[in-house]
Amino acid sequence: MDEHTHEGIGSEGGLSPVPDSIAAILKQHGADRPIRNPDEVAGLVKQLRKVMVPHERFREGILRLRTIHAGLDRSPAAEAGVMTFLGRSGSGKSNTLRYYARQYPARKGESGWIRPVVYVRVPPEANKAALLRSILSEMGLPVTNARDTDILMRDVLHHLREQKVELLILDEMQHLIDQRTQRFQYISADILKDLLSSNCCQMVFAGLDSAIMALEVNPQLNRRSPLRFPMTEYNWFDEEDQGNYVDFLTAVADQMPFQRRPAVDDVDVAERLHRSSDGLIGITMNLVAKGMEYALFEGAATVTLEHLAVGFDELKRRGIKINPFRGKCPDTLGVPVDYIYEEDSGLSKRKERPVRASFSK
Ligand SMILES: Nc1ncnc2c1ncn2[C@@H]1O[C@H](COP(=O)(O)OP(=O)(O)O)[C@@H](O)[C@H]1O
Ligand SMILES: [Mg+2]
Repeated sequence: MDEHTHEGIGSEGGLSPVPDSIAAILKQHGADRPIRNPDEVAGLVKQLRKVMVPHERFREGILRLRTIHAGLDRSPAAEAGVMTFLGRSGSGKSNTLRYYARQYPARKGESGWIRPVVYVRVPPEANKAALLRSILSEMGLPVTNARDTDILMRDVLHHLREQKVELLILDEMQHLIDQRTQRFQYISADILKDLLSSNCCQMVFAGLDSAIMALEVNPQLNRRSPLRFPMTEYNWFDEEDQGNYVDFLTAVADQMPFQRRPAVDDVDVAERLHRSSDGLIGITMNLVAKGMEYALFEGAATVTLEHLAVGFDELKRRGIKINPFRGKCPDTLGVPVDYIYEEDSGLSKRKERPVRASFSK
């Protein structure tokens, strides 16, 4: 049993100390079971989740972002270049976009801040004003309640120029779709059109396939026929893609803190992971992280198929009866195309933590 029950190991400050009452329970619990300190396990899992793997689609995405970025042309006759960046939820779009933006941090220039790349996450159920306020906020401007979209737009254009923004990335564009009418254009197309015609900077619109396709056919915008990067999930039945998926798992396995390196990149295990995730990076990471969590709790030397199986059962969607980590690998399992990956959540929402009964062998 670890002695450090009182400390929030693995948390970067900020985590409150464990109260004595909880510490006593944890200690008792640990006395007859080989449980690891839960704070330590959580810290290790968190670390794994932060690992950035430069997988194939990621590298391709970065290359395409660099291309659209480099296409900036501020001459008066030029028009802003646009690229759409689309893919299923959990395919790794936001991670790639945020990584790219981080490589161009804001710096203090002679006449104020210079921000080469601005990444904006469109807030849920955003209207025009909310979208414009988000852009201003990402440019380091004070958050306001302003609602006048004309004034907000003028401010956005002004600061995009002032801060010498070269590339503006709007992510989670599906949040601009009107939930009731599914209509995209009335909410935001005119704003996007204003941004484009002002030619302040190059633009990337990212989000779910459906939203981006609606955007691409929008009559106000489609005259521009944007460049397009689909961040597709990995296809197991394409030899090269399968190799790319396995490479991703190899990079993840290398980061896992076990006595024996977990064989998650073994072809048999990889195929099972693929079947459970449809080759989506997000679901794959959830499963691997969950398997790792169970293995750590158990004090196991490595992550086994059984750890992944238990993890799958915890994360799986309602109604799924088979477990691809037990027995023969199923031919199909399928993840609905409209499945929404939520950060730090599983395949389905669960309110309570699982009980540890499933650890017993
Ligand atoms: N390059 C990467 N390396 C490691 N894990 C990644 C990478 N990209 C994505 N992930 C994992 O997948 C999850 C979903 O990625 P995200 O970019 O949010 O997908 P999307 O925006 O397409 O829905 C992330 O939370 C992370 O766990
Ligand atoms: Mg995203």
